Amino acid sequence: MKKLYFGSNLKMYKGIEETKVYLEKLCDNTKDLSREEIELFIIPSYTSLPDAVKSVNQQMVRLGAQNMGWEDQGQFTGEISPCMLEELGLQLVMVGHSERRHVFGEKDIEENKKVKAALKHGFTTLLCVGETAEEKEYGIATEVLRTQLKVGLHGIDSSRISQLWVAYEPVWSIGVNGIPASAEYAEVIHKVIKETLFDIFGEAAEEIPVLYGGSVNPQNARQLIIQPSIDGLFVGRAAWDADKFDRLIREAKYAFDNK
Ligand code: 13P
Repeated sequence: MKKLYFGSNLKMYKGIEETKVYLEKLCDNTKDLSREEIELFIIPSYTSLPDAVKSVNQQMVRLGAQNMGWEDQGQFTGEISPCMLEELGLQLVMVGHSERRHVFGEKDIEENKKVKAALKHGFTTLLCVGETAEEKEYGIATEVLRTQLKVGLHGIDSSRISQLWVAYEPVWSIGVNGIPASAEYAEVIHKVIKETLFDIFGEAAEEIPVLYGGSVNPQNARQLIIQPSIDGLFVGRAAWDADKFDRLIREAKYAFDNK
């Protein structure tokens, strides 16, 4: 059976205590869901991570970092190195989130350095890609995504595939002003992403889960998760209440099992 991925990026929300309470509730709510059938992950703020790691069994909820510098140490004020995240006992690192690219100006070449460093340190690496509204308008979404993937994953050996996840998060769909992608559009783009991963890594690329993110909510989650090329949902706002996220996961899983 296909494993489904459900995760949330907490962005710059929830402090240490709030994150802890949220995680404990989410673990408790979802404890009956088989982790062979679903992979659940949460990506809190850096400052919440040390306590989060202590309060959560990562077999139940995998914890990740929202970003990472690519050097082990050095004169990089404000950066967090892979060694520091390793020391925390983390297993997952997100690279290239839309807000890193578009608010903080990160480029594909930097994402590639981060992906390489994260893989070298043994992290599962979630590379986020997505086109802007303007790029979609000009009809170049496919070209943009292929570039983000080809540069972001350049020089990575296919033996690392089991450590790679990809999230498709169209920039125009993320956040309070975002418009969710239709399930049909997301499916078409996910196919393009999977074809590109095949171009890069060959047949082994089938193993890489491709998640959809961007204004996922209880109304559209079911329609999205039943698409053949969508392997999971990467959720922001609709996941930040543990009860609501639990419900969304259950409804999506039910829709998938009964499609
Ligand atoms: P929203 O679901 O709030 O649009 O955020 C999605 C996202 O950015 C997840 O990384």
